[in-house]
Amino acid sequence: MNLKRFIPILIVVCVLGTCLVGISAMGQKEPKGGTQLLREEMTALEQAFGAIIDAVIFDNMGLIKPAIPPLRKAREKVEETISTGQKIKLPKNRGRFEEFVMLDDKFHEEFKALEKAAEAGEKKVVKDQTHKLFDACVVCHEKFRK
Ligand code: HEC
Repeated sequence: MNLKRFIPILIVVCVLGTCLVGISAMGQKEPKGGTQLLREEMTALEQAFGAIIDAVIFDNMGLIKPAIPPLRKAREKVEETISTGQKIKLPKNRGRFEEFVMLDDKFHEEFKALEKAAEAGEKKVVKDQTHKLFDACVVCHEKFRK
């Protein structure tokens, strides 16, 4: 057989192969980036915070504990990302990432204080922490969210 006749076939096979590899790569899920993980944490935080506000206004501390686990899970993923040195792409003031991390750490410290107070049934502390946390949402959003 004439080798020359094979060359066009070879080219077609190569082109098709490349296309197929490309298509299958598109179908694969990319690992989640830090930005997406942060948004997931924020959504979980918003939900947990809703429960916390209910707990305060309806004077029912028992609402807080069950609202925490989804937030904790989402939070852990963000912490992991940051601890591996990956910077999350912030919508605003991206260059002030260290300040963002500081605010974030402080926020979660205050959040832990709220959790502890809720478990101990210390209503006044829960109420004060709720105010503090709410202010912290606004401060961080003003700085880092568009
Ligand atoms: C340490 C900083 C920080 C704190 C504290 C913070 N946020 Fe955020 N939040 C952000 C940033 C940054 C974004 C924007 C993320 C993006 O769009 O890339 C955001 C986005 C959000 C979003 C939108 C998520 C989405 O899918 O686009 C919600 C909802 C939200 N935050 C709720 C809250 C609530 C509620 C609190 C307080 C209880 C809070 N955040 C506290 C930094 C913070």
